Amino acid sequence: MKVLVLNGSPKGSLSFSLQCFDFLKTQFPGNHYEVIHVGQRINAIEKRQKTFTSLIEKLKEAELIIWLSPVYYFAVPAQLKRFVEIIYERKIEYLFKGKYACVLTTSLHFADYLVQNYINAICDDLGMNFLEGFSTSLADMQKPGGKNELKLFFKFLLDNISRGIAYNRKYPPLHFNSNSYTPEESHQHLPEIKNIKMTLLTDMDNQSGNLQQMINVFTGIVPGQIKLVNLNVINIKAGCFHCLHCTVDGICVHEDDVARVFHQYLLPADIIIFAAAIRERYLSARWKMFIDRLLFNGLSPAFPGKQTGFLIAGPLQQLPDLRYMLETYVQTQGMNNIGFISDEYEQPEDLTKAIYHFTQSLLWAVENNYRKPMTFHGVGGHKIFRDFFYEYPHLYWKDHMYYKKNNLYDFPQKRKIRSIKNKLNSFFCRFTRFRSRILKRARISYFQSIKKLF
Ligand SMILES: Cc1cc2nc3c(=O)[nH]c(=O)nc-3n(C[C@H](O)[C@H](O)[C@H](O)COP(=O)(O)O)c2cc1C
Repeated sequence: MKVLVLNGSPKGSLSFSLQCFDFLKTQFPGNHYEVIHVGQRINAIEKRQKTFTSLIEKLKEAELIIWLSPVYYFAVPAQLKRFVEIIYERKIEYLFKGKYACVLTTSLHFADYLVQNYINAICDDLGMNFLEGFSTSLADMQKPGGKNELKLFFKFLLDNISRGIAYNRKYPPLHFNSNSYTPEESHQHLPEIKNIKMTLLTDMDNQSGNLQQMINVFTGIVPGQIKLVNLNVINIKAGCFHCLHCTVDGICVHEDDVARVFHQYLLPADIIIFAAAIRERYLSARWKMFIDRLLFNGLSPAFPGKQTGFLIAGPLQQLPDLRYMLETYVQTQGMNNIGFISDEYEQPEDLTKAIYHFTQSLLWAVENNYRKPMTFHGVGGHKIFRDFFYEYPHLYWKDHMYYKKNNLYDFPQKRKIRSIKNKLNSFFCRFTRFRSRILKRARISYFQSIKKLF
């Protein structure tokens, strides 16, 4: 079988994802394998005709396409997102149609399923025959039997293909709203509130239509209070390629505007608004490039206590995973999300009203210091990153110091008295004589402690 590997990792042949695949190649030598480092070579694919033509030739020949992707901030890296955009811009979708596809992701397992689902959905859109993927981590591969699991996955995949298995698409095609949003000439304003700083980040351009109108309405409601940063205008030299230079001293190897925007516009703001249009089931690659590059500040919460919200143009209601990706991003950054406003309203006046109320809520949240507790997205992320920084402090020194300083190494075994009590209870619970008494007491004291709390 002719297998084409699209390696989305910006690290190319040095990537862990590719090492996993190289292992499979040695285990299944009977196939013909080709690898294209689409993540690392994205500029050449975009700008050099020769590289693009060779890509097309390889795509034509492939029978099975395997996407390799690390998880970068709960989504694919910016470079791989750009590759997906190029497929549509250059109209080469036909090269994927009808072919078998699969995905292999590597990560710390935090939100890895979102990347698996994302590639699945893109393959569905391309008319490919997608078969279940595999998600692994370095820790998985180091476990006894870990490599064997990977080997079995590939065997399972090849066997399924040889049996001609085909499944229905899992993700329905997206329907884009064709209503263009023309807001009424005049709408309500809110009084300027001194000392509240707002930054709106966007990648809008002249063709942004509804997004541009939504931003105009939003900025018009609180005139003079918002700093606008356009990601298309600032200088972003390249995407993050996980070189780890920044994780010790917080300085990125790319010298451009990302750190300046972060320090000058994001850190001082009380409210940060993300305004974006949906492209190929995510935000634009430009947006993703900016998000990935914020790694220079570490994976720890960069914006604790700030209020945030999203203005989105596109079919957000049909993309629950995109909401999870964005929600996870803001929660792990320590932000309080006021919500998502998308242009999916039937009537323009309803959308204007929603933006007005959204703005009111944001200001109210700042004035009242309103914070919701984190949900699974934030809590899960905290625990996974906590364990990782604790295990590899030298690699993520800046994050390690942040976790230490802010008491975020909150391992349960650190609570010594509770730990001793639990051990004693566990010991006595082995004896039926004590068990029912201990459990009864636990139920009562649990309830009493809640009552006391309120
Ligand atoms: C910018 C950036 C963001 C990351 N975000 C996540 C994440 O959201 N979830 C996760 O589990 N791992 C995350 N990681 C870790 C990588 O997914 C992991 O190291 C991966 O195995 C790297 O694969 P590669 O060597 O093939 O590029 C992130 C790494 C980087 C550089």
